Amino acid sequence: MAQPSSKTVLVLHGPNLNLLGLREPNHYGSDTLESINAQLKQQADAASIGIETFQSNDEAVLIEKIHTLAHTPVDFIIINPAAFTHTSVALRDALSAVKVPFIEVHLSNIYARESFRHHSYFSDLAVGVISGLGARGYALALDYAINNITRA
Ligand code: DQA
Repeated sequence: MAQPSSKTVLVLHGPNLNLLGLREPNHYGSDTLESINAQLKQQADAASIGIETFQSNDEAVLIEKIHTLAHTPVDFIIINPAAFTHTSVALRDALSAVKVPFIEVHLSNIYARESFRHHSYFSDLAVGVISGLGARGYALALDYAINNITRA
């Protein structure tokens, strides 16, 4: 049996992603957030890494969650900041402050949509960005994390 690893990944979902499945399936697909999280948990379990998933519609709650990493660190973050991608310097600054490497994920291809979605406050800080591959984007990000995180 694989030895339990001390590696932990935090998956952060921003506003309105709790409505996945119902919400504009043409952009976001038909998977619910619950099923995406369950698949990520299975993938993490198979690799013997820890995973926590967290969704909030509230910018401050997401920022406070990131602040907890200052005293309870994780190895990697996967974040879909949703609409905060295009608006939130504060969320960007929180990620920058805790210095945890992260991948930015978007279900839809933000560059194929309205021009206000073309700018992200996160991409230049991210290890990488996955946009437009639907729920598969989270699995690919987790695959990267599993294969590349090393605890300092
Ligand atoms: C999104 C894209 C954002 O522009 C949008 O505001 C979202 C979801 C995506 O996953 O494609 O809420 O981040």
